[in-house]
Amino acid sequence: MTKSLHLLSRGPEDTQHIGMQLGKLARAGDVFLLSGKLGAGKTCLAQGIAWGLGFEEYVSSPSFVVVREYHGRIPMYHIDLYRLAQLSEILELGLDDYLYDGGVCVVEWAEKVTMAWPNEHMLIRIEYVSDIERWLCLEPSGERYSLILSDLRREK
Ligand SMILES: Nc1ncnc2c1ncn2[C@@H]1O[C@H](COP(=O)(O)OP(=O)(O)OP(=O)(O)O)[C@@H](O)[C@H]1O
Ligand SMILES: [Mg+2]
Repeated sequence: MTKSLHLLSRGPEDTQHIGMQLGKLARAGDVFLLSGKLGAGKTCLAQGIAWGLGFEEYVSSPSFVVVREYHGRIPMYHIDLYRLAQLSEILELGLDDYLYDGGVCVVEWAEKVTMAWPNEHMLIRIEYVSDIERWLCLEPSGERYSLILSDLRREK
């Protein structure tokens, strides 16, 4: 099993770049769960993932629209659970329709629901270091995600 990977991001562009590398390696069905406080850089990372998947336009925060879709090489569903307070509201979204639809799912505030996620996923915890620095801790669950990390290490 590949252990977790800790990357120091020295600015938003670094975080986007790490996201782009993940997006390039992503395949249909992959699930990326992003966790971190307000302003940690979850949306910034999601932008990179969308660009790595070949989506060329601006990617904004989906906070007001719980789910946004981006169509690059394969679809990406950008889900932001921040505004949803109740588990029932989250369940109403029908997350399974996104998770098992042959796209890539990127979820902000994933920690709001623990039960709904597939056992196999990549958890990315973003930790604030300073105004412009963040630790990105990538924790794979399952072989598929260990493989992504091995590939990511190779590209470093
Ligand atoms: N190394 C870094 N990586 C990512 N963002 C950074 C970094 N350094 C500074 N920033 C800034 O931090 C902010 C991150 O905002 P972003 O919207 O991505 O956070 P978020 O985790 O999605 O927040 P929210 O919980 O509100 O959705 C941006 O203003 C960005 O410019
Ligand atoms: Mg955000």
